[in-house]
Amino acid sequence: MRQQKALVTGSGGLVGSACVRLLGRKGWNVVGVDNDMRQVFFGAQGSTKGAIETICREQPTYQHHAIDIRNREALSSLIRSERPQFIIHTAAQPSHDKAASIPYEDFDTNAVGTLNLLVAAREYCADSPICFTSTNKVYGDRPNELDLAERDTRYDYADGRIGIDETMSVDQTLHSLFGASKVAADMLCQEFGRYFQMPVGIFRCGCITGPDHAAVELHGFLAYIVLCAVRGIEYTIYGYKGKQVRDQIHSDDVASLFLDFYNAPRCGEVYNLGGGRENSISILETIDALSDMGFTLNRKPEQVNRKGDHICYISDLTKINSHFPGWRLENNVSKILSDLARHHYDSA
Ligand SMILES: NC(=O)c1ccc[n+]([C@@H]2O[C@H](COP(=O)([O-])OP(=O)(O)OC[C@H]3O[C@@H](n4cnc5c(N)ncnc54)[C@H](O)[C@@H]3O)[C@@H](O)[C@H]2O)c1
Repeated sequence: MRQQKALVTGSGGLVGSACVRLLGRKGWNVVGVDNDMRQVFFGAQGSTKGAIETICREQPTYQHHAIDIRNREALSSLIRSERPQFIIHTAAQPSHDKAASIPYEDFDTNAVGTLNLLVAAREYCADSPICFTSTNKVYGDRPNELDLAERDTRYDYADGRIGIDETMSVDQTLHSLFGASKVAADMLCQEFGRYFQMPVGIFRCGCITGPDHAAVELHGFLAYIVLCAVRGIEYTIYGYKGKQVRDQIHSDDVASLFLDFYNAPRCGEVYNLGGGRENSISILETIDALSDMGFTLNRKPEQVNRKGDHICYISDLTKINSHFPGWRLENNVSKILSDLARHHYDSA
């Protein structure tokens, strides 16, 4: 049997590298695209060069291309020559705070880069399933308009809902430039699914994490707070009294869902993807959990909240669970926290 070939953009990043490893374990040939733009966005601490070197060393069939997804011709020519049976598109400028200072780079990467990929895929491998990592920031700050109840350590939805589902409007709300560029990409992916009947899945992710995150203050909340606690770096809470809530999902669980989508794709389907209510945690609760593990966080005085930052975001996984009944989260938030702490401790 001919070996299946997958193309993963952002292959050195948190999600991309998890996908590369999972596909490799499942016997796929993987072609990766990543030009270490993360280093350009966030400096040396954000570089994913080491992750690529590790993949190249450990996965001999992995083929790397340091192509910039903004380079339409180069990306198209790669897809023409490789004609992958599966595409996972994770390359992005991922920080909403960063986007304001680099609007062109942000839009050209997130929106135009996605269009470049979709057009080439339609031309050379239109039947190959595509997973696109969108974001819950496409909802802008609309989640903040929900009635919230303030509890001792967190905010929660006052109406008792388990989380936010895919029916929330993405329109007429404050997004940040990052949210806007991701909305553009999200809509383009939906459109290639609906208009051209291509099997494109749009996954609106919450907080994705894992030891492979090249965490920086502006991107990767959980990995960064654990890094600060373990290494004694000062940590700043931005607003909401530290009671802001996020549901956490491990990058390996995202990768396994993408493989399930490959096996049961739908055209232009949108999913909210996160750890769900059981894996939701506030900053105060994270600080408590870290303290139980023996790590005391050195807190700087609280600053005002980041513009457009969600107060409470928990993904409602009902649609995912109904479309992919075999998919299970293998990593709960306690395991994620202890894995992160061990990772930062060992690599100190
Ligand atoms: N990590 C999260 O919490 C989270 C949450 C919601 C959505 N997402 C989305 O998931 C996707 C992956 O996120 P991540 O955390 O793995 O990000 P990441 O920054 O770890 O990885 C992205 C990778 O893409 C590469 N890249 C960026 N621009 C590129 C370009 N122009 N050409 C080629 N490569 C480029 C970077 O070098 C990096 O290695 C992104 O689309 C992000 O918006 C992530």
